[in-house]
Amino acid sequence: MTNPVYILNGPNLNLLGHREPAVYGRDTLDDIKGLATARAVSLGLAIDFRQTNDEGELIGWIQEARTAAAAIIVNAAGLTHTSVALLDALQASELPIVEVHLSNIFRRDSFRQHSYVSLAATGVICGLGAKGYELALEAVRAILDKKSAA
Ligand code: DQA
Repeated sequence: MTNPVYILNGPNLNLLGHREPAVYGRDTLDDIKGLATARAVSLGLAIDFRQTNDEGELIGWIQEARTAAAAIIVNAAGLTHTSVALLDALQASELPIVEVHLSNIFRRDSFRQHSYVSLAATGVICGLGAKGYELALEAVRAILDKKSAA
């Protein structure tokens, strides 16, 4: 049995659907989890989908992923732009990492245009709303296939 792909969501993403819908859309995190679950099944991947408002908990999950996950898809939300500790945990994981943002962070405030997560990410998807999570799973499938063929 292959390890699941951890899909980790950071602070305030539990409010999706209600929080600034003009920026983040009307999908709730549960809607996104449903989309991701269906896409994962069609790609032959298992997922473990989680959200936390706590930086330490997110780092704990990334440490757990080192041995328990096949890859990490992460939307670290506001921590993206602030957390060196999160970057350190991601780098230590030695896993394929796809960074996702619902909004296009490069069209927004200048402080959102720097991402610590990107320094550890294999690739980044932003600005495509909930679809970004499905695209991230497709990318993970391709990365894992390439890895197992090597
Ligand atoms: C976000 C973008 C971040 O800048 C912001 O702090 C979030 C959500 C996104 O998905 O677009 O909380 O990660």
